[in-house]
Amino acid sequence: MRTEYSPLHKVLHWATLGLFLIQLWTYPAIGRTHVDHPGMLVDPWDLQLHKIHMISGGLILAFALMRLWLKRRNPVAPPPFPHPLLETLARYAHIALYGTLLLLPVTGFLKSYIVSAAGPVHILLTRLLYALLVLHIVGAIMHAVVWRDGLLARMGLRLPFQRQP
Ligand code: HEM
Ligand code: HEM
Repeated sequence: MRTEYSPLHKVLHWATLGLFLIQLWTYPAIGRTHVDHPGMLVDPWDLQLHKIHMISGGLILAFALMRLWLKRRNPVAPPPFPHPLLETLARYAHIALYGTLLLLPVTGFLKSYIVSAAGPVHILLTRLLYALLVLHIVGAIMHAVVWRDGLLARMGLRLPFQRQP
């Protein structure tokens, strides 16, 4: 079993971070596009941003599916943790992260084309994603600064002052 993620998995992970930032940049344009503008045209740039939100969301879905497939094909050993409870927490947090990364594009698509009731679910899922990302980043900081176990290298970030495995 490999001890770090494959190069393609790493690229897809960091590309997903970039796409997530694109989602944060583009979403305000969706609200502006859908507001009633009596006698005014919708700003064409907002329409472009709306389109970018959909394309970037579709890529997030494709990348998440590819990563799940890559993990199944080349399993990665569980990471080091000072306590088994933390290992369980990380495992469930990763499952929840993948779940939100898959459901966000699905609900976004449903809201855009099929049923507008999917809108509030999409918004709720964004809040869940923010909470999971806070947990994810706090976890990454604990590994890098407190336990210094070199975990971030599994995702390609080789930091100084890490303990030897
Ligand atoms: C992982 C992918 C996605 C993320 C992280 C994301 C993120 C967001 C965020 C932060 C908002 C604003 C929520 C708010 O008003 O507070 C939003 C709204 C929206 N997104 Fe996405 N989005 C994703 C994928 C998609 C996709 C693929 C589509 C369409 C095909 C889409 C369509 C929409 C629509 C229509 C809204 C407005 C919802 C409403 O106001 O009811 N999103 N998205
Ligand atoms: C500064 C930002 C980030 C850092 C430092 C970071 C770091 C990491 C590291 C080191 C791992 C590997 C954990 C392990 O070895 O088990 C990982 C996994 C993961 N990250 Fe991130 N990450 C960041 C942002 C994100 C973002 C924005 C997302 C999603 C939107 C995300 C989703 C995931 C997922 C789903 C996994 C599980 C990988 C798997 O088991 O297939 N990460 N991250």
